[in-house]
Amino acid sequence: MHTVKAIYPGTFDPLTNGHLDLIARGAKIVDELVVAILRNSDKAAPLFTVEERQEMLTEATRDFHNVSVDTFGGLLVDFARERGAKAVLRGIRAISDYEYEFQMAMMNRKLDPELETLFMMPAEKYTYVSSRLIKGVFQLGGDVSALVPPLVVERLRSKVPSKR
Ligand code: PNS
Repeated sequence: MHTVKAIYPGTFDPLTNGHLDLIARGAKIVDELVVAILRNSDKAAPLFTVEERQEMLTEATRDFHNVSVDTFGGLLVDFARERGAKAVLRGIRAISDYEYEFQMAMMNRKLDPELETLFMMPAEKYTYVSSRLIKGVFQLGGDVSALVPPLVVERLRSKVPSKR
């Protein structure tokens, strides 16, 4: 039988409703979707540990029977090959995402010509949502409850207790 497994990689610090929207869309078109959290991100110090991010994603995706959550280090193409995935799923919110995504997709294609990158767009209402903005707004006391799952709001509250 011909099945398609895809990897949805990212930092997910933290998971947003935009990520969840993309997971739901991806899970409809591939047979198996592995959400993969990068362990050794070169981004500024993360707010949540990889374990916390994995717990949040696992809980938030538990109703999807074909979605699992894992972590990876090193090259995405190596992780995809190890897991037998044919595709990488990425979200594009606005034209400003395009250049970065194009570079990554082309680099991944150079590294592994067999691995395809699939781009999907999240619901319009999440096109401005990013993990970076969520953290910034929450840390300043803003309400982000419409933009992340409730379990993420709880975790944010326990990380940044004084503001809310
Ligand atoms: O959600 P993010 O932070 O935009 O995700 C970026 C991610 C994790 C997809 C990207 O940094 C990645 O795949 N890193 C692994 C290292 C790698 O494979 N680099 C070569 C491709 S550019």
